[in-house]
Amino acid sequence: MVFALADPFIPTMRLQPLLASAALLLAAAAPLASAADAQLIVDASKPGPKISKYIYGQFSEHLGRCIYEGIWVGPDSPIPNTKGYRNDVLAALKQLKVPQLRWPGGCFADEYHWRDGIGPREKRPSIYNSNWGGVVENNHFGTHEFLELCEMLDIAPYICLNVGSGTVQEAQEWVEYMTSAADSPMANLRRANGRDKPWRVPFIAVGNESWGCGGNMRAEFCADNFLRYNTFIKNYGGDSARIQRIGCGSSGGDTDWTEKMMMIAGKQMDGLALHYYTLPSDSWKGSKGASIGFAEDHYFAALRYTLRMEEYLTKQLAAMDQYDPEKRVGMVVDEWGIWTDVEPGSNPGFLYQQNTIRDALLAALNFHIFHDHADRVTMANIAQIINVLQAMILTDKEKMILTPTYHAFEMYKPFQDATVLPIKLVTPDYAFGKEKIPAVSATAALATDGKVYVALVNVLPTESATVSATLVGLTAKGATGRILTAPAMDSHNTFAAPHAVQPAAFTGATVADGKLTVTLPAKSVVVLELK
Ligand code: AHR
Repeated sequence: MVFALADPFIPTMRLQPLLASAALLLAAAAPLASAADAQLIVDASKPGPKISKYIYGQFSEHLGRCIYEGIWVGPDSPIPNTKGYRNDVLAALKQLKVPQLRWPGGCFADEYHWRDGIGPREKRPSIYNSNWGGVVENNHFGTHEFLELCEMLDIAPYICLNVGSGTVQEAQEWVEYMTSAADSPMANLRRANGRDKPWRVPFIAVGNESWGCGGNMRAEFCADNFLRYNTFIKNYGGDSARIQRIGCGSSGGDTDWTEKMMMIAGKQMDGLALHYYTLPSDSWKGSKGASIGFAEDHYFAALRYTLRMEEYLTKQLAAMDQYDPEKRVGMVVDEWGIWTDVEPGSNPGFLYQQNTIRDALLAALNFHIFHDHADRVTMANIAQIINVLQAMILTDKEKMILTPTYHAFEMYKPFQDATVLPIKLVTPDYAFGKEKIPAVSATAALATDGKVYVALVNVLPTESATVSATLVGLTAKGATGRILTAPAMDSHNTFAAPHAVQPAAFTGATVADGKLTVTLPAKSVVVLELK
């Protein structure tokens, strides 16, 4: 393994505005004391933007066992449930403080007709889920079931309209059905189905991946469609319940789509989406890489490729800046995460994969990137919440486990709606073959509880890293926190060993003379609260 100063364009090296004195301190501290030492400055004197809690959002699609079995088992199930929702899952999601939840897709959204999913469940029609496994969808989980779930868990619903195979009228009526308090046809239909009060739906997306499964449109057509649908999405709840409208965005680094959407429809949008999935093999063809049992090449590759989120966001945000320099339109990364091969023996269309400590590190790296762009990135949705792709929760009949990624999200709760504190980080590299990435990643924020939190990630697979942090504009006497780490690169939880990877109290941080020193074990995520 070779250690060197990381490339200045790698995310952790992003130079945030710093006090001149702090910069001097860092310069004086170089060169690095030992190979695996990182040096950090946290500057509390110049708070940055707010980290929207909505970047910790989740995604639930009618795909595989996400909705059925994962969330919904029905009121008659022997699996303990509340009105059809699994009790174990409800409790786990409550603890996670999910801020917003995207539904019903994904690709499924553009073939979903909401009227199929209302009224008495036994009378709802079954449909064919052409995108995901060709299974029959009985529509037992529909608008009421989704919005009641959100209400039970205090989650903001984020609904994706069917633009690909639906109509403007269908979309308009759905929004009226969900959000109108008037004595109007759709509101009265909702009442007839047992719900008097309208729901609050703060976020609506106009289509999903319209360049692909959502209709294979050109950007110009998609932008025109946005304007057309947007015209008929009314704010039935008045200005105080204004719906934020999210335009369909591009994938990865395709800024041509972004520019066209912004140029044609940017003024009418509140947010523009972006999707980026991390593939360990970097290819959609053939094997993407196994979710467990991988060697260091795929451990490293996944972490390296996930850092492209920084590169893509930088490009995409620059494209948005051209048309919206005031940063009024939010960037909504409404699909992200690691996508591996499915678990052997599972339906390939169900996208069921295991989840390891590597994936928790990968999630934390993305959190840090989103924090670095908190002035524009206002929402994000990891794909997906249960039993699909980089899931928080896996279920097997009556059993449920929390994944390492769940624990990463749970540990980062203090960052929801916190204020960014600028950092400067000099880190050793993690080198593998001819490539290298930063070994350490960091972020800091002033939370809504008035405390300062520092989160650190060490991606080195076998070596610890020591971080020496200078605190500017704040005094601390100590630091306590939690760590997520595990012995193997693919350590994961199973139904037989559900707690193999879980957070533990962290004792590796000390504060002396105003300086924070942290020893990060290999493959670890640490979230510290400064005292
Ligand atoms: O998350 C799985 C799928 O990935 C979504 O349905 C689609 O939008 C994307 O291609």
